[in-house]
Amino acid sequence: MASIKPVGKKACVIGGSGFLASCLIKQLLEKGYAVNTTVRDPDNAKKIPHLLALQSLGELNIFGADLTGEKDFDDPVAGCELVFQLATPVNFASEDPENDMIKPAISGVLNVLKACARVTGIKRVILTSSAAAVTINQLKGTDLVMDESNWTDVEYLNTAKPPTWGYPVSKTLAEKVAWEFAEENHIDLITVIPTLTTGPSLTPDIPSSVGLATSLITGNDFLINALKGMQLLSGSISITHVEDICRAQIFLAEKESASGRYICCAHNTSVPELAKFLNKRYPQYKSPTEFDDCPSKAKLIISSEKLVKEGFSFKYGIEEIYDQTVEYLKSKGALKN
Ligand SMILES: NC(=O)c1ccc[n+]([C@@H]2O[C@H](COP(=O)([O-])OP(=O)(O)OC[C@H]3O[C@@H](n4cnc5c(N)ncnc54)[C@H](OP(=O)(O)O)[C@@H]3O)[C@@H](O)[C@H]2O)c1
Repeated sequence: MASIKPVGKKACVIGGSGFLASCLIKQLLEKGYAVNTTVRDPDNAKKIPHLLALQSLGELNIFGADLTGEKDFDDPVAGCELVFQLATPVNFASEDPENDMIKPAISGVLNVLKACARVTGIKRVILTSSAAAVTINQLKGTDLVMDESNWTDVEYLNTAKPPTWGYPVSKTLAEKVAWEFAEENHIDLITVIPTLTTGPSLTPDIPSSVGLATSLITGNDFLINALKGMQLLSGSISITHVEDICRAQIFLAEKESASGRYICCAHNTSVPELAKFLNKRYPQYKSPTEFDDCPSKAKLIISSEKLVKEGFSFKYGIEEIYDQTVEYLKSKGALKN
Protein backbone atom coordinates (compact mmCIF):
# COMPACT_ATOMS: atom_id res chain seq x y z
CA MET A 1 0.00 0.00 0.00
CA ALA A 2 1.35 3.46 -0.86
CA SER A 3 2.35 5.51 2.17
CA ILE A 4 0.47 8.71 2.94
CA LYS A 5 2.74 11.64 2.24
CA PRO A 6 2.70 14.60 4.64
CA VAL A 7 1.35 17.64 2.84
CA GLY A 8 3.06 21.03 3.11
CA LYS A 9 6.18 19.98 5.02
CA LYS A 10 9.35 21.53 3.72
CA ALA A 11 12.95 20.84 4.66
CA CYS A 12 16.19 22.52 3.65
CA VAL A 13 19.36 20.48 3.09
CA ILE A 14 22.57 22.55 3.01
CA GLY A 15 25.30 20.99 0.84
CA GLY A 16 22.96 18.77 -1.18
CA SER A 17 25.49 17.48 -3.69
CA GLY A 18 27.40 15.46 -1.07
CA PHE A 19 27.33 11.75 -0.24
CA LEU A 20 25.22 11.95 2.91
CA ALA A 21 23.14 14.94 1.83
CA SER A 22 21.97 13.47 -1.48
CA CYS A 23 20.90 10.28 0.31
CA LEU A 24 19.09 12.42 2.89
CA ILE A 25 17.30 14.41 0.17
CA LYS A 26 16.12 11.14 -1.42
CA GLN A 27 14.73 9.91 1.91
CA LEU A 28 13.02 13.25 2.60
CA LEU A 29 11.39 13.32 -0.84
CA GLU A 30 10.27 9.69 -0.40
CA LYS A 31 8.68 10.72 2.91
CA GLY A 32 6.73 13.44 1.13
CA TYR A 33 8.77 16.48 2.15
CA ALA A 34 9.32 19.27 -0.33
CA VAL A 35 13.05 20.05 -0.23
CA ASN A 36 15.15 23.14 -0.80
CA THR A 37 18.80 22.34 -1.18
CA THR A 38 21.98 24.34 -1.68
CA VAL A 39 25.08 23.61 -3.74
CA ARG A 40 27.96 25.92 -4.48
CA ASP A 41 27.53 25.82 -8.23
CA PRO A 42 23.98 25.00 -9.35
CA ASP A 43 24.90 25.70 -12.98
CA ASN A 44 27.54 22.98 -13.04
CA ALA A 45 25.41 20.13 -14.39
CA LYS A 46 28.35 17.71 -14.07
CA LYS A 47 28.33 18.06 -10.28
CA ILE A 48 24.60 17.67 -9.74
CA PRO A 49 23.14 15.08 -12.16
CA HIS A 50 22.08 12.99 -9.14
CA LEU A 51 20.11 15.93 -7.73
CA LEU A 52 18.46 16.63 -11.07
CA ALA A 53 17.45 12.94 -11.17
CA LEU A 54 15.94 13.18 -7.67
CA GLN A 55 13.57 15.90 -8.89
CA SER A 56 11.42 13.08 -10.33
CA LEU A 57 10.59 12.03 -6.73
CA GLY A 58 9.02 15.32 -5.65
CA GLU A 59 9.57 19.05 -5.20
CA LEU A 60 13.31 19.68 -5.04
CA ASN A 61 14.53 23.26 -5.47
CA ILE A 62 18.25 23.80 -5.98
CA PHE A 63 19.82 27.07 -4.76
CA GLY A 64 23.37 28.37 -5.08
CA ALA A 65 25.07 29.07 -1.72
CA ASP A 66 28.59 29.13 -0.31
CA LEU A 67 29.32 28.58 3.39
CA THR A 68 31.22 31.86 3.41
CA GLY A 69 28.32 33.85 1.94
CA GLU A 70 26.67 35.75 4.79
CA LYS A 71 23.24 36.02 3.18
CA ASP A 72 23.39 32.98 0.90
CA PHE A 73 21.10 30.87 3.08
CA ASP A 74 18.22 33.32 3.59
CA ASP A 75 16.23 32.17 0.55
CA PRO A 76 16.91 28.41 0.88
CA VAL A 77 15.76 28.20 4.55
CA ALA A 78 12.69 30.46 4.09
CA GLY A 79 9.46 28.49 4.45
CA CYS A 80 11.18 25.38 5.83
CA GLU A 81 10.31 23.62 9.10
CA LEU A 82 13.55 21.69 9.23
CA VAL A 83 17.06 22.69 8.24
CA PHE A 84 19.77 20.04 7.84
CA GLN A 85 23.32 21.46 7.64
CA LEU A 86 25.77 18.97 6.12
CA ALA A 87 28.12 21.11 4.02
CA THR A 88 31.70 21.24 5.21
CA PRO A 89 35.00 22.01 3.54
CA VAL A 90 37.14 18.86 3.40
CA ASN A 91 40.72 19.03 2.23
CA PHE A 92 42.96 16.54 3.98
CA ALA A 93 45.95 17.51 1.84
CA SER A 94 45.68 21.19 2.76
CA GLU A 95 48.82 23.04 3.81
CA ASP A 96 46.66 25.72 5.39
CA PRO A 97 43.89 23.92 7.32
CA GLU A 98 43.10 27.09 9.28
CA ASN A 99 41.92 28.95 6.17
CA ASP A 100 40.89 25.96 4.05
CA MET A 101 38.80 24.10 6.62
CA ILE A 102 38.57 25.55 10.11
CA LYS A 103 37.49 29.13 9.40
CA PRO A 104 34.99 28.30 6.60
CA ALA A 105 33.47 25.44 8.65
CA ILE A 106 32.86 27.78 11.59
CA SER A 107 31.62 30.74 9.55
CA GLY A 108 29.49 28.39 7.47
CA VAL A 109 27.67 26.98 10.47
CA LEU A 110 27.14 30.50 11.78
CA ASN A 111 25.90 31.80 8.44
CA VAL A 112 23.34 28.97 8.24
CA LEU A 113 22.19 29.48 11.85
CA LYS A 114 21.98 33.26 11.43
CA ALA A 115 19.74 32.76 8.38
CA CYS A 116 17.57 30.42 10.47
CA ALA A 117 17.35 33.02 13.25
CA ARG A 118 16.21 35.69 10.77
CA VAL A 119 13.10 33.80 9.61
CA THR A 120 10.13 32.40 11.50
CA GLY A 121 8.72 28.90 11.24
CA ILE A 122 11.90 26.83 11.54
CA LYS A 123 11.19 24.17 14.12
CA ARG A 124 14.55 22.46 14.31
CA VAL A 125 18.06 22.62 12.87
CA ILE A 126 20.00 19.37 12.51
CA LEU A 127 23.74 19.80 12.19
CA THR A 128 25.92 16.96 10.97
CA SER A 129 28.98 16.86 13.19
CA SER A 130 31.41 13.93 13.25
CA ALA A 131 32.93 11.30 15.51
CA ALA A 132 36.07 13.36 14.85
CA ALA A 133 34.54 15.93 17.22
CA VAL A 134 34.21 13.31 19.99
CA THR A 135 36.96 10.72 20.19
CA ILE A 136 40.35 12.34 19.69
CA ASN A 137 42.14 12.53 23.01
CA GLN A 138 45.27 11.38 24.76
CA LEU A 139 43.59 8.84 27.03
CA LYS A 140 45.36 5.51 27.21
CA GLY A 141 43.87 2.03 27.42
CA THR A 142 41.41 -0.25 25.65
CA ASP A 143 37.66 -0.73 25.99
CA LEU A 144 37.09 2.97 26.62
CA VAL A 145 33.52 4.03 25.86
CA MET A 146 32.93 7.38 24.18
CA ASP A 147 29.53 8.99 24.31
CA GLU A 148 27.94 12.39 23.74
CA SER A 149 29.64 13.86 26.82
CA ASN A 150 33.06 13.49 25.17
CA TRP A 151 34.68 16.22 23.08
CA THR A 152 37.80 15.98 20.98
CA ASP A 153 40.85 17.61 22.56
CA VAL A 154 41.39 20.62 20.26
CA GLU A 155 44.34 21.91 22.26
CA TYR A 156 46.20 18.66 21.70
CA LEU A 157 45.44 18.76 17.95
CA ASN A 158 46.49 22.40 17.61
CA THR A 159 49.75 21.73 19.44
CA ALA A 160 50.78 18.29 18.16
CA LYS A 161 49.32 18.80 14.66
CA PRO A 162 49.11 15.07 13.82
CA PRO A 163 48.28 14.25 10.16
CA THR A 164 44.77 15.43 9.16
CA TRP A 165 44.45 17.50 12.37
CA GLY A 166 42.59 20.33 10.60
CA TYR A 167 39.44 18.32 9.88
CA PRO A 168 38.72 17.24 13.50
CA VAL A 169 39.49 20.75 14.71
CA SER A 170 37.06 22.19 12.13
CA LYS A 171 34.29 19.76 13.10
CA THR A 172 34.76 20.24 16.85
CA LEU A 173 34.88 24.03 16.76
CA ALA A 174 32.00 24.27 14.27
CA GLU A 175 29.81 22.11 16.52
CA LYS A 176 30.77 24.08 19.65
CA VAL A 177 30.02 27.39 17.97
CA ALA A 178 26.68 26.02 16.80
CA TRP A 179 25.69 25.09 20.36
CA GLU A 180 26.64 28.56 21.63
CA PHE A 181 24.71 30.36 18.89
CA ALA A 182 21.66 28.10 19.22
CA GLU A 183 21.51 28.66 22.97
CA GLU A 184 21.82 32.42 22.69
CA ASN A 185 19.25 32.63 19.91
CA HIS A 186 16.79 30.00 21.16
CA ILE A 187 17.20 27.71 18.17
CA ASP A 188 16.17 24.07 18.66
CA LEU A 189 19.41 22.40 17.54
CA ILE A 190 20.26 18.72 17.30
CA THR A 191 23.69 17.50 16.31
CA VAL A 192 24.11 14.12 14.67
CA ILE A 193 27.52 12.52 15.02
CA PRO A 194 28.25 10.00 12.29
CA THR A 195 31.26 7.71 12.16
CA LEU A 196 33.05 6.63 8.98
CA THR A 197 30.22 6.28 6.50
CA THR A 198 29.96 3.90 3.56
CA GLY A 199 27.32 2.23 1.38
CA PRO A 200 25.97 2.94 -2.11
CA SER A 201 26.14 6.56 -3.19
CA LEU A 202 24.02 8.63 -5.56
CA THR A 203 26.93 10.98 -6.32
CA PRO A 204 28.66 10.82 -9.73
CA ASP A 205 31.99 9.95 -8.07
CA ILE A 206 32.75 7.38 -5.39
CA PRO A 207 32.81 9.32 -2.09
CA SER A 208 36.14 9.57 -0.30
CA SER A 209 34.80 7.92 2.86
CA VAL A 210 33.68 4.90 0.81
CA GLY A 211 37.18 4.72 -0.67
CA LEU A 212 38.67 4.84 2.82
CA ALA A 213 36.29 2.22 4.27
CA THR A 214 37.01 -0.18 1.39
CA SER A 215 40.75 0.39 1.03
CA LEU A 216 41.57 -3.03 2.51
CA ILE A 217 39.69 -4.77 -0.31
CA THR A 218 40.61 -2.40 -3.14
CA GLY A 219 44.26 -2.59 -2.10
CA ASN A 220 44.82 1.17 -2.23
CA ASP A 221 47.97 1.52 -0.11
CA PHE A 222 47.61 5.27 0.37
CA LEU A 223 44.10 4.81 1.77
CA ILE A 224 45.10 1.77 3.84
CA ASN A 225 47.68 4.01 5.52
CA ALA A 226 45.01 6.66 6.00
CA LEU A 227 42.73 4.06 7.60
CA LYS A 228 45.51 3.00 9.97
CA GLY A 229 46.11 6.68 10.70
CA MET A 230 42.43 7.03 11.50
CA GLN A 231 42.61 4.24 14.09
CA LEU A 232 45.76 5.67 15.65
CA LEU A 233 44.30 9.17 15.89
CA SER A 234 40.65 8.41 16.68
CA GLY A 235 41.06 5.20 18.68
CA SER A 236 38.87 2.95 16.51
CA ILE A 237 37.47 2.23 13.08
CA SER A 238 33.78 2.84 13.57
CA ILE A 239 31.52 2.32 10.58
CA THR A 240 27.92 3.10 9.65
CA HIS A 241 25.71 2.68 6.57
CA VAL A 242 24.84 5.95 4.86
CA GLU A 243 21.13 5.14 4.84
CA ASP A 244 21.13 4.64 8.62
CA ILE A 245 22.86 8.01 9.10
CA CYS A 246 20.15 9.68 7.02
CA ARG A 247 17.31 7.73 8.66
CA ALA A 248 18.67 8.84 12.05
CA GLN A 249 18.76 12.47 10.89
CA ILE A 250 15.08 12.40 9.91
CA PHE A 251 14.13 10.36 13.00
CA LEU A 252 15.75 12.96 15.27
CA ALA A 253 14.31 15.87 13.30
CA GLU A 254 10.79 14.51 13.75
CA LYS A 255 11.12 13.19 17.31
CA GLU A 256 9.88 15.92 19.59
CA SER A 257 11.62 14.61 22.71
CA ALA A 258 15.05 14.55 21.03
CA SER A 259 17.62 17.04 22.28
CA GLY A 260 21.38 17.54 22.29
CA ARG A 261 24.03 15.47 20.54
CA TYR A 262 23.45 11.99 19.10
CA ILE A 263 26.17 9.57 18.07
CA CYS A 264 25.19 7.37 15.14
CA CYS A 265 27.52 4.38 14.94
CA ALA A 266 26.63 0.87 13.78
CA HIS A 267 29.88 -1.03 14.33
CA ASN A 268 33.17 -0.51 16.16
CA THR A 269 36.31 -2.33 15.12
CA SER A 270 40.04 -1.97 14.42
CA VAL A 271 41.97 -2.20 11.13
CA PRO A 272 43.33 -5.71 11.87
CA GLU A 273 39.90 -6.97 12.98
CA LEU A 274 38.25 -5.43 9.92
CA ALA A 275 40.82 -7.04 7.62
CA LYS A 276 40.11 -10.42 9.25
CA PHE A 277 36.37 -9.97 8.71
CA LEU A 278 36.85 -8.87 5.09
CA ASN A 279 39.21 -11.76 4.30
CA LYS A 280 36.66 -14.24 5.60
CA ARG A 281 33.69 -12.68 3.79
CA TYR A 282 35.45 -11.73 0.53
CA PRO A 283 38.56 -13.96 0.29
CA GLN A 284 38.89 -13.05 -3.41
CA TYR A 285 40.03 -9.52 -2.51
CA LYS A 286 42.92 -10.67 -0.31
CA SER A 287 42.96 -7.98 2.36
CA PRO A 288 46.37 -7.50 3.99
CA THR A 289 47.00 -9.52 7.15
CA GLU A 290 50.02 -7.77 8.70
CA PHE A 291 49.62 -4.46 10.53
CA ASP A 292 52.74 -4.11 12.67
CA ASP A 293 52.14 -0.52 13.69
CA CYS A 294 48.39 -0.79 14.29
CA PRO A 295 46.96 -2.19 17.55
CA SER A 296 44.89 -5.33 16.95
CA LYS A 297 42.24 -4.05 19.33
CA ALA A 298 40.62 -0.63 19.14
CA LYS A 299 41.27 1.74 22.05
CA LEU A 300 37.62 2.66 22.32
CA ILE A 301 34.09 2.13 21.19
CA ILE A 302 31.72 4.90 20.18
CA SER A 303 28.33 4.33 21.76
CA SER A 304 24.96 4.98 20.11
CA GLU A 305 23.08 4.07 23.28
CA LYS A 306 21.41 7.49 23.48
CA LEU A 307 20.07 7.24 19.92
CA VAL A 308 18.83 3.69 20.43
CA LYS A 309 17.17 4.62 23.76
CA GLU A 310 15.37 7.42 21.89
CA GLY A 311 13.77 4.64 19.78
CA PHE A 312 16.01 4.41 16.71
CA SER A 313 17.02 1.03 15.33
CA PHE A 314 19.86 0.44 12.91
CA LYS A 315 18.92 -1.36 9.71
CA TYR A 316 22.42 -2.39 8.66
CA GLY A 317 25.10 -4.33 10.53
CA ILE A 318 28.68 -4.76 9.35
CA GLU A 319 27.85 -7.63 6.94
CA GLU A 320 25.13 -5.70 5.09
CA ILE A 321 27.20 -2.51 5.14
CA TYR A 322 30.05 -4.21 3.29
CA ASP A 323 27.88 -6.45 1.07
CA GLN A 324 26.10 -3.38 -0.26
CA THR A 325 29.28 -1.35 -0.60
CA VAL A 326 31.01 -4.17 -2.51
CA GLU A 327 28.07 -4.43 -4.93
CA TYR A 328 28.13 -0.64 -5.34
CA LEU A 329 31.86 -0.61 -6.12
CA LYS A 330 31.39 -3.45 -8.62
CA SER A 331 28.64 -1.45 -10.33
CA LYS A 332 31.09 1.47 -10.61
CA GLY A 333 33.82 -0.77 -12.05
CA ALA A 334 36.00 -0.15 -8.99
CA LEU A 335 36.04 -3.81 -7.84
CA LYS A 336 36.13 -7.07 -9.79
CA ASN A 337 33.89 -10.06 -8.95
N1 LIG B 1 31.37 10.62 5.02
C1 LIG B 1 31.74 10.35 6.27
O1 LIG B 1 32.37 9.32 6.54
C2 LIG B 1 31.39 11.29 7.39
C3 LIG B 1 31.61 10.87 8.71
C4 LIG B 1 31.31 11.75 9.75
C5 LIG B 1 30.78 12.99 9.48
N2 LIG B 1 30.57 13.37 8.19
C6 LIG B 1 30.02 14.71 7.95
O2 LIG B 1 28.88 14.59 7.12
C7 LIG B 1 28.77 15.74 6.29
C8 LIG B 1 28.68 15.29 4.84
O3 LIG B 1 29.81 14.53 4.53
P1 LIG B 1 29.97 13.80 3.12
O4 LIG B 1 30.91 12.68 3.30
O5 LIG B 1 28.65 13.58 2.54
O6 LIG B 1 30.76 14.94 2.35
P2 LIG B 1 30.90 15.29 0.82
O7 LIG B 1 30.31 14.26 -0.05
O8 LIG B 1 32.35 15.63 0.62
O9 LIG B 1 30.05 16.59 0.76
C9 LIG B 1 30.50 17.76 1.34
C10 LIG B 1 29.61 18.86 0.87
O10 LIG B 1 30.07 20.10 1.42
C11 LIG B 1 29.94 21.07 0.42
N3 LIG B 1 30.88 22.17 0.64
C12 LIG B 1 32.20 22.12 0.86
N4 LIG B 1 32.70 23.36 1.00
C13 LIG B 1 31.67 24.20 0.87
C14 LIG B 1 31.52 25.60 0.90
N5 LIG B 1 32.56 26.43 1.10
N6 LIG B 1 30.29 26.13 0.74
C15 LIG B 1 29.23 25.34 0.53
N7 LIG B 1 29.29 24.00 0.48
C16 LIG B 1 30.50 23.46 0.64
C17 LIG B 1 30.22 20.36 -0.89
O11 LIG B 1 29.54 21.07 -1.89
P3 LIG B 1 30.04 21.25 -3.40
O12 LIG B 1 29.28 20.29 -4.21
O13 LIG B 1 29.67 22.62 -3.71
O14 LIG B 1 31.52 20.97 -3.44
C18 LIG B 1 29.59 19.00 -0.63
O15 LIG B 1 28.25 18.98 -1.00
C19 LIG B 1 29.99 16.60 6.58
O16 LIG B 1 29.60 17.58 7.50
C20 LIG B 1 30.97 15.63 7.21
O17 LIG B 1 31.87 16.28 8.08
C21 LIG B 1 30.87 12.55 7.13
